[in-house]
Amino acid sequence: MEIVPLESAEQVAVLAADVIETVVRRRPGAVLGLATGSTPLPTYRELVRRHEAGLAPSYDGVRCFTLDEYVGLPAGHPESYRATIARELTDALGIGADRVHGPDPTPDGLPMAGERYEAALEAAGGVDVQVLGIGGDAHLAFNEPGSSLGSRTRMKTLTEQTRRDNARFFDSVDDVPRHVLTQGLGTILRARHLLLLATGPGKAAALAAAVEGPLTASCPASVLQLHPHVTVLADASAAGALARRAHYREVYDAKPEWQGL
Ligand code: PGA
Repeated sequence: MEIVPLESAEQVAVLAADVIETVVRRRPGAVLGLATGSTPLPTYRELVRRHEAGLAPSYDGVRCFTLDEYVGLPAGHPESYRATIARELTDALGIGADRVHGPDPTPDGLPMAGERYEAALEAAGGVDVQVLGIGGDAHLAFNEPGSSLGSRTRMKTLTEQTRRDNARFFDSVDDVPRHVLTQGLGTILRARHLLLLATGPGKAAALAAAVEGPLTASCPASVLQLHPHVTVLADASAAGALARRAHYREVYDAKPEWQGL
């Protein structure tokens, strides 16, 4: 794992945008894995800013897959992850809805949604770079503690803590759905490059447990330790509990330019 301790959330966003654009430049038909939540928003704004300034690669052939989706929201609900990712990123980059995929939470689609999403990911050739956030309880996507490290896309029940965390996007916690569809930890591991973003002090303990603690289903993000190409971009507060923080920074500062992230 490459862990890059940075000063600020702005630096995280700039470097994350660089990583994503490098993948798209290298492979115009790239498959991007997109996370929702607050953490990636500065990165998405940076990508949109560069696109609007005419500085970005073409997104004309790019396809996107979301990590997860709420179950039980009316179609088109503004807090559905489908609507969120269109609003925050893909519409502005000119990536049409036909090139943005998410697990199907409709009542008819739900029973087979996991299998169908796995098949769609495979048919697309897999994800080139997967953007990830981390929960305060070290969940990854909506894989809460206890999720199988080999899990596939399936329906899950949110913890009360995660529903409270996400209540800020709704009128009240009672409006946050109980159920979600989420890529499994095993699904996430199949992406070719994992790009975990962590900002703010609320992520410090979870990040330290994930990258320096034991590999365990009790800490779903510890599954990153099994992946051959992980980049963690953390601001100063999210990196605050990493025991080897100074070493990670030395490694990054001494990194040969040809290596990239
Ligand atoms: P956040 O969520 O980016 O809104 O903090 C991250 C997550 O829950 O995975």
